Amino acid sequence: MTAATPSGMLTLTDSRTGKTYEIPVENGTFRTMDFRQIKVSDDDFGLLGYDPGFLNTASCKSAITYIDGDRGILRYRGYPIEQLAEHSTFLETAYLLIKGELPDRERLDAWTYNIRHHTMTHSNIVKFMDGFRYDAHPMGIMVGMVGALSTFYPDAKEITSEASRKLQVRRLIGKIPTLAAMSYRHSMGFPYVLPDNDLSYAGNFLSMMFKMTEHDYRPNPVLEHALDVLFILHADHEQNCSTSAVRAVGSSGVDPYTAVAAGCAALYGPKHGGANEAVIRMLLEIGSVERVPEFIRAVKAGSGRLMGFGHRVYKNYDPRAKIIKKIAFEVFEETGRSPLLDIALELERIALEDDYFISRKLYPNVDFYSGLIYQAMGFPLDMFPVLFAIGRIPGWLSQWTEHVQDPEQKIARPRQIYLGEEQRDWAPIEGRLKCRTEECVMTSCRL
Ligand code: ACO
Repeated sequence: MTAATPSGMLTLTDSRTGKTYEIPVENGTFRTMDFRQIKVSDDDFGLLGYDPGFLNTASCKSAITYIDGDRGILRYRGYPIEQLAEHSTFLETAYLLIKGELPDRERLDAWTYNIRHHTMTHSNIVKFMDGFRYDAHPMGIMVGMVGALSTFYPDAKEITSEASRKLQVRRLIGKIPTLAAMSYRHSMGFPYVLPDNDLSYAGNFLSMMFKMTEHDYRPNPVLEHALDVLFILHADHEQNCSTSAVRAVGSSGVDPYTAVAAGCAALYGPKHGGANEAVIRMLLEIGSVERVPEFIRAVKAGSGRLMGFGHRVYKNYDPRAKIIKKIAFEVFEETGRSPLLDIALELERIALEDDYFISRKLYPNVDFYSGLIYQAMGFPLDMFPVLFAIGRIPGWLSQWTEHVQDPEQKIARPRQIYLGEEQRDWAPIEGRLKCRTEECVMTSCRL
């Protein structure tokens, strides 16, 4: 919803009492607290909204990211994602998200300098990293390491201090690629690579990931640019699961490292940061272009989903997917064409002509082609959500900053509809239901 939606009053009549209420409508929303006055009796709590998964509930007012899912529009601070992907860099986009405006040259240079000078981690971080098992999932490592950063920077608790907030933002954007690359190299048993501040943000990350014995690692400029654009495309997506987690945890007043660790935890889930990995697994399972029609038939018959298709918000082509598809071809020019690309193109061709997908408004989303690019660049599948997290850091931090400065916000504390037992009296153990008998109702007690 936008501020352009007309304001007015919603007139409601409660058929239980016959009473009529006037509920103000502003920006296409009403305040659910205005429903609390609607009661059947004086001791009634008042009407609550019920919205599992927050399908139709705004949790905040925000000036950061705008999405129109029906028209396939995504804008950061008003700028269309297509223009940012074409003309901006990731660090410039991060500045835009966090500060609200594109920087001039002097500001961008200062911002870049500040981020670069926070790419190193405390040497004790290495001890933490070494404590993980050799086969630890890199995203699990990220959840732990980002949370651990809060213990290295106790000044981050000063969340009401603008100077402290700015410092933690620089530290987090600077250190995330370092931690991400360390998590990969730990799993491979490779020595960690120190940051190279002569390289770009994406280039330095590629160096920390893939540098071996060469003295001077120079990233392939096409892959470096592609990664930078992928980071831009992932930088924010308004109130999704991980961003809502950052805001909810941040609403307790905790430091930003802990709040962002919650975002990483949410992104770890296969329904959120793991879908691009699922796309690769699906393409591998299909195996050849010839088997695509058979796979589509199976999806339509209800056995599984076409991964990388469909979106809760976009009911049109995800604008990020269009940009990613173009980048995929540029990357494959360098790395050689992945045989999986042909399967993906055929899937997309058939699905976009098929009434099942058209009638349900199922189009390719951001994950359909991004995994193919990551794979071609040499990233293992379990690094995919970590790459997503690197890109999303400025979004989480801009949303966190907006949240802690919003005077209307309170600690996140949803209500529930209690459908359990009424009060009952404690019974001595001899008088309770017997286990494994017909009258036992505790079917899920695992005994
Ligand atoms: N393949 C086949 N059918 C699908 C797909 C799909 N990918 N997505 C939705 N449908 C069908 C459903 O079966 C349902 O059909 P029905 O009405 O006959 O029952 C209808 O479309 C609506 O589906 P919902 O699950 O209600 O849609 P919702 O908005 O809740 O789900 C979601 C969105 C989770 C993204 C879904 O489209 C999906 O599972 N896609 C595949 C996974 C994926 O690519 N996730 C990445 C999302 S992008 C991101 O998180 C960064």
